[in-house]
Amino acid sequence: MSEAATALALEDVVAGYGPVTILHEVSLVLGPGEVVVVLGANGAGKTTLFRAIAGLLAPRSGHIRLYGEAIEGRTAHAVTRAGIGHVPSGRELFPRLTVADHLDLGGRLCLPARRAELKERMFGLFPVLHERRQQRAGTLSGGEQQMVAIARALMTDPRVLLLDEPSTGLAPKIVISVFEILPLLKAQGVSVLLAEQSLTLGLSAADRAYVLDHGRIVLSGSASELANDRRVVDTYLGR
Ligand SMILES: Nc1ncnc2c1ncn2[C@@H]1O[C@H](COP(=O)(O)OP(=O)(O)OP(=O)(O)O)[C@@H](O)[C@H]1O
Ligand SMILES: [Mg+2]
Repeated sequence: MSEAATALALEDVVAGYGPVTILHEVSLVLGPGEVVVVLGANGAGKTTLFRAIAGLLAPRSGHIRLYGEAIEGRTAHAVTRAGIGHVPSGRELFPRLTVADHLDLGGRLCLPARRAELKERMFGLFPVLHERRQQRAGTLSGGEQQMVAIARALMTDPRVLLLDEPSTGLAPKIVISVFEILPLLKAQGVSVLLAEQSLTLGLSAADRAYVLDHGRIVLSGSASELANDRRVVDTYLGR
């Protein structure tokens, strides 16, 4: 994939906590409008990877480029401004704030007119959030909470969306309804990097996949290639 055709590119990213290295020379690419899943077991390093991209954890070395522009080492705020939206693992909502409050928080970097426009777009994408706009996030169902977390990130009008394990704690049927927004984002040219433990769910939602094992990319390919590759299940996810 040429640099111009790449939405997000990671090159040899090394990151960790204190003296502990978690990510070992991770390289991956995400094309415009592409949905790519990072598959990996518990503790493989998916969340660490997403936090490094989002500017919440500074990589020790390597490069992260958004449409060719180097963003590694920037603050989370600057990464958001550059065009990366982050839906964190565990959603991280404020239970006492309403749905509308969360959308306003997500859109705080925009001018008020733009914020109102984006909010309408979110209510179009997630009609249930419009119905429940005055409801406190803590009283929503798990699926609705995940929609709020996604909508809050989309309120930054990102070019790339990082979606960290949206399926956690949700019934498969609800996960499928959350994943239904992916083709809509794709149609708007938003690229999505998804983290997922479940092979079936991850591959059903993505165009391509990378398998992360102990902080290293050990396999990659199209979703259909990996769905038929026994090594994925046997070696890396079958622990
Ligand atoms: N703040 C931290 N300080 C020290 N170690 C951490 C910290 N956060 C995560 N780790 C370690 O980094 C490794 C990777 O964790 P990470 O959360 O990135 O995995 P993951 O692939 O997202 O797992 P899961 O699917 O369970 O969410 C684990 O060994 C974890 O214990
Ligand atoms: Mg995680």
